[in-house]
Parts: sequence; C-alpha cells; structure tokens
Amino acid sequence: MSVRPHSALRVPTPGDGTGSGSWHDVQTAFGVPVMVADPVTYLGHYPGWSTDLHALPYATLCRLARYTRRLGDASNAPDALTRCLTTAVSAHAPDSRLIVEAASSVGTELRALAPLADFVIGFDHSLPETQVAVRQLAGETVFPLERLEGRSFRSAPPIQFARLDNVVAVVGDALDPPVQAECADVVVALNLLDCVHDPVALLGQLDAITAPGGLLIVSSPFAWQDSITPPERQLATLEPLSEVAGWPSAGKPLNELSAYGSAAALHTLLRGDSPLLNVRHTIVETHELSWTLQDNARATSHYTVHVCVSRKSG
Ligand SMILES: C[S@@+](CC[C@H](N)C(=O)[O-])C[C@H]1O[C@@H](n2cnc3c(N)ncnc32)[C@H](O)[C@@H]1O
Repeated sequence: MSVRPHSALRVPTPGDGTGSGSWHDVQTAFGVPVMVADPVTYLGHYPGWSTDLHALPYATLCRLARYTRRLGDASNAPDALTRCLTTAVSAHAPDSRLIVEAASSVGTELRALAPLADFVIGFDHSLPETQVAVRQLAGETVFPLERLEGRSFRSAPPIQFARLDNVVAVVGDALDPPVQAECADVVVALNLLDCVHDPVALLGQLDAITAPGGLLIVSSPFAWQDSITPPERQLATLEPLSEVAGWPSAGKPLNELSAYGSAAALHTLLRGDSPLLNVRHTIVETHELSWTLQDNARATSHYTVHVCVSRKSG
C-alpha cells in the first residue's frame, strides 16, 4: 500500500457510521485506499477504467478535466479560493496538528495546506480524482485531461510536483467520513455542500470530525441541482415557504419567495439556531469570491462562491 496509515483514519464499516474496522482490511485500487463501508459495491462502479479511460462515467471524465486543469493552473498561481483558504488557516489555526479536507478531488488544496499543519488527510468519493491526488502528492507525473468539447478529450502536458510526506489522500464518503470523531484542528469542505443529497447531514458530519475549538471552512457556489439535492433539502428552502412573507405565492414576485438565501441558512445552521442541526459554531469570517472553472476549450463557468469560516465551541 502506497499510503501510510495515520491514527486519525477510521475504517468505515456497514452500520450506523460509528464502527471502525482494521486498516489491514482496507482494499486498495491502483494504490488508493478505498475507505468506504462497502468497498466491493463501490469498486463495481469502476469496471475496467484503469486500462480504458472511456470506461469512466462521462461526468467523471468531465470533472477530471476541470480539476486536473485547476491543479496545473495552481502550480503557476493559486486561485482566490485557495489563497482565501490558506490565509484563513494561517490566521485562525496556526500550528495545526491535523487538517482534514473532505472532497479533496485531485489534491490542489491538500498541497497548499501541507505547509500549514503537521499532517493533512484528504478524502473524496471519486476514485479517479483521488488516484490523481495520490500520484501528484507522491511526486509522480500526472497527465491532465483536456476536454475540447462534448465527448472529445485529449491529454494536456504532464505536470509533476515535489513529493509531500505529510499528506495522505483516500477514497471516502463525507456522509460517513473515514476519520475519527473530533480528530481535526481544521476541517475543510470546498464546494461539496451542493454535491450531496443531504447538506444538513453533511454539516453534522463535518462538525463531528472537528475538534472542540477547531475551525471549519466551508465554501459553496450553491449551484443546486434537483437531481442531486432534492429541492426541499437545498439550504435556501429550509425556511418553510409558508413563513416567507406573502405566501401563498399568487401574484408575488419570485425574489420575495427566495429572500432567505443558502448563505443565511448555512450561518443559521452552524450557529445552532435551527432545530435541524445540533451544533454550535461562531462565524469567524465570510467571503464572496469569484471562482472560475474551464468546462471545455469553448466554455468556462464563473461562480460566486460563498466562504464561511467558523469555530466550533470548545
Ligand atoms: C465541485 S467538486 C469540488 C472539488 C474541490 N473541493 C474544489 O473545490 O476544487 C465536488 C467534489 O466532491 C466530491 N464528492 C461528491 N460527493 C461526495 C461525498 N459524499 N463524499 C466525498 N466527496 C464527495 C466529488 O467527487 C468532487 O471531487
């Protein structure tokens, strides 16, 4: 196994998410530890992709192209989101022993966080992206994928970074995190909230792995998709519409119905001011940042990402 175990890693087992299996039972795929409760079913989603990239789901190929490009770009200059992250950690959690990043993708932020803590653990639910992370963190050459348009992809020039010895990346599910409760001085989850079916449960899990007094850094463009997050679970809709002035909606402009945005809902949840989530954080700082991802050679997506830095009560 190319990844060394760390005492904060937890081997998920089937059940209620509290069990911990043995590191020796962890299955690996292409050198990547697969730390999910049912690795056999999980790996069944990736038949044959190691020899044929086209065996990967199309959405995964598109994500690989977007995020390997972002990794390459970061070697020239970290973007505003990465700079905001490292500035916040330096300011509010210097001398961290352990930083955990959920949804670490190809490891762009893991590399940026490495100098700021004794140890950094990243996990992501996607095996192909985590494999890129493991390789680039080990100092191996990685071959970014470039999407021209539609289903047309090509290889971009290879990239290689220095090996980092204080970072591991594993496959894991943020809704059943592969780390111990309250293990991390800093927990990071960038642009994950709108990628899960239950964002409130996700916040609960992120809080659970944060040490008392630790820092939680969450960002999101709140680009909700009903196919991923059912409308009633999207943060902005947690305030019952019946309580929004003017409901029922007949004749009301839409902006009156959506006045309670996802950022406000996120703060309410983290402060512990909602019956939906039993956590208590102080909001330390928030930001609105421009975030750009190249979708293909002809299209670029521009987002405004909300960043929320909060401290868990000690
Ligand atoms: C929009 S991308 C963001 C990647 C990276 N955090 C960034 O900001 O550049 C969302 C990532 O979340 C991962 N993801 C989705 N659901 C997940 C889950 N339940 N647990 C862990 N990772 C998940 C995807 O595989 C993908 O890498």
